[in-house]
Amino acid sequence: MKEIVAKVKERTSIPVYERSVENVISAIMTSGDFWSIVDVSEEPLPLVCDIIDVLKENGYVEIKENEIVLTNKGEEFAKELGIGPKINATCKCCEGRAVSLDDYKDLLERFKEIVKNRPQPLHEFDQGYVTPETTVSRVILMHSRGDLLNKEVFVLGDDDLTSIALMLSGLPKRIAVVDIDDRLIKFIEKTADEIGYNNLEILTLDIRKPLPDYLVGKFDTFITDPPETLNAVRTFIGRGIATLKGPRCAGYFGITRRESSIDKWRNLQKILINEFNVVITDIIRNFNHYINWGYEKETKAWRLAPVKVLPKDIWYRSYMYRIETLEGSKGLMEEMNVGQELYDDEESSTT
Ligand SMILES: [Fe+2]
Repeated sequence: MKEIVAKVKERTSIPVYERSVENVISAIMTSGDFWSIVDVSEEPLPLVCDIIDVLKENGYVEIKENEIVLTNKGEEFAKELGIGPKINATCKCCEGRAVSLDDYKDLLERFKEIVKNRPQPLHEFDQGYVTPETTVSRVILMHSRGDLLNKEVFVLGDDDLTSIALMLSGLPKRIAVVDIDDRLIKFIEKTADEIGYNNLEILTLDIRKPLPDYLVGKFDTFITDPPETLNAVRTFIGRGIATLKGPRCAGYFGITRRESSIDKWRNLQKILINEFNVVITDIIRNFNHYINWGYEKETKAWRLAPVKVLPKDIWYRSYMYRIETLEGSKGLMEEMNVGQELYDDEESSTT
């Protein structure tokens, strides 16, 4: 095992532990599909690729008809180390979100009907949207935490069309949406018109620039789904926090394991706690399920994939974070001088 870890270390600067190799072997024992292996192993995709490579070179793994499988030697190895397949104990009712859709079936149906003709994701903006069940569950989650009813809500980037589900819920007093994509803005505006919702504001902003005064300290709740670099976390979440009125306001965002090691998670949590001075109240595993976005073949993930087969099923999921502000919390006020590194780091792969 030590030898495997050492060989992987030679190939990547992503932190690798015996546990990472164990997770990948365990995932291979669960599924032969590359995308499922990434999903189930909960290790960053580029690292999973390096680990599979090294395991293959050492005769523990082979590729058979586009499936990644353990060889006899690999099975022996797993047995010796006491590694078994991953257990999937996800609740089938809520798909693991711990939020019940039962009382919101009408909202879900209306939302599904509206988004049928939604604009498709653009690679340029790192877009990729979640299932309707995810979007509506977000609304229920926020409501259940007391963050929606008669509150002012800021949606920072909205390719998931959360603002539409929020409008349909009728819960917030006011919704403001910022997006860089004109197609989404038009779609959201048109929908607001059609359902007769009047308390919506649409804004175009470059969030790398400081927020205009009329947005600073004006909202109770924000939601965003940032790219996964530390700069993006700093920018998206920092701006989100800057829009909040003061202590005991809330923010929601997704963070994945597919593009972020838990070493990166620790750095990200340090930003939240040390720089922004907020508290993490909830982390719900694999809450957000992303529909395969259609530009897979243009991504680094595809270039790295040891098997060139498109994902058949959802494999990209992110954990839902909820943070709350306290006395002394503060968001990002300065300008962020970042370019493409807003989207890319060593661990990213879907941009
Ligand atoms: Fe459940």
